[in-house]
Amino acid sequence: MEKKSYALITGGTSGIGYELAKVFATNGHNLILVARDEADLTITRNELLELGVDVKIISKDLFDKQAPFELYEEICSKGYDVNILVNNAGQGQYGEFSETNIYRELSIIQLNISSLVVLTKLFLQDMIKKGDGKIMNLSAVSGKTGGLLNSVYHGTKAFVQSFTQAIAAEVEGKGINVMVLLPGATDTDFFNKADMQQSKVAKGGLENAKKVAQDGYDALMKGKHLKVSGGLKNKVKEALSNVLSDKVASKKPQKEQSPVVERK
Ligand SMILES: NC(=O)c1ccc[n+]([C@@H]2O[C@H](COP(=O)([O-])OP(=O)(O)OC[C@H]3O[C@@H](n4cnc5c(N)ncnc54)[C@H](OP(=O)(O)O)[C@@H]3O)[C@@H](O)[C@H]2O)c1
Repeated sequence: MEKKSYALITGGTSGIGYELAKVFATNGHNLILVARDEADLTITRNELLELGVDVKIISKDLFDKQAPFELYEEICSKGYDVNILVNNAGQGQYGEFSETNIYRELSIIQLNISSLVVLTKLFLQDMIKKGDGKIMNLSAVSGKTGGLLNSVYHGTKAFVQSFTQAIAAEVEGKGINVMVLLPGATDTDFFNKADMQQSKVAKGGLENAKKVAQDGYDALMKGKHLKVSGGLKNKVKEALSNVLSDKVASKKPQKEQSPVVERK
């Protein structure tokens, strides 16, 4: 009997990751979902099982240095074949860098960068042996410029884009597609986790997570290496950040991220 293959999605219980899980399941992919909250994982699994695919869940805190290694070991020991990896779990932290908590920021770097790098390496090595596989890493349009009041987050997303594009070029011709997805500001729980409720960016004009997920899935399946998701606004923003001077480009997020001023 042929071995089942799985799409592994980190952060598959909420927001963009949850919508990605639904799109993958709708298209017949078995899933391995990873997040911290076991109750959310169980609810999501039960819901997605109704779409007729197999759904495994693994609770892991990817803030923890060892967690991505443990996750890989657990998947290998259970004999699951991962043919698609989606490094989606990510967090931000709002506030002036001189005042925010450095340990929270180191955890964000671990989650958004280090865990993503470890999982990409371990699963990519297996995919190269098989000559088959797909990897999608979540960056953000906001990673194109320095992000005032969200400096560490923007920096991590710039890393993800640069890193993923390099890997995509390295594996060209090996049967593997590596893609970076750049959503614009999207309506999810991200802003609550990042203490961004007062930021202008969280107050309106947000993208729909379902649409972002469908854009990402379609682009990955078409073999694209980079996808800017969302409306014209995001595409213009991404294009402008490629041509504007660094000084001018860095002014824009300053306006977007500033707190909403309550009118008296
Ligand atoms: N929302 C936006 O505006 C936006 C824009 C561009 C890019 N993105 C990127 O899209 C990705 C998904 O974000 P989202 O907006 O969908 O956020 P979200 O709604 O907050 O979902 C985050 C998911 O990641 C999981 N997660 C968070 N911390 C984790 C940890 N330490 N270990 C394991 N899993 C963890 C969460 O589950 P648990 O809490 O149970 O762990 C949840 O399933 C992120 O990489 C984000 O940077 C978001």
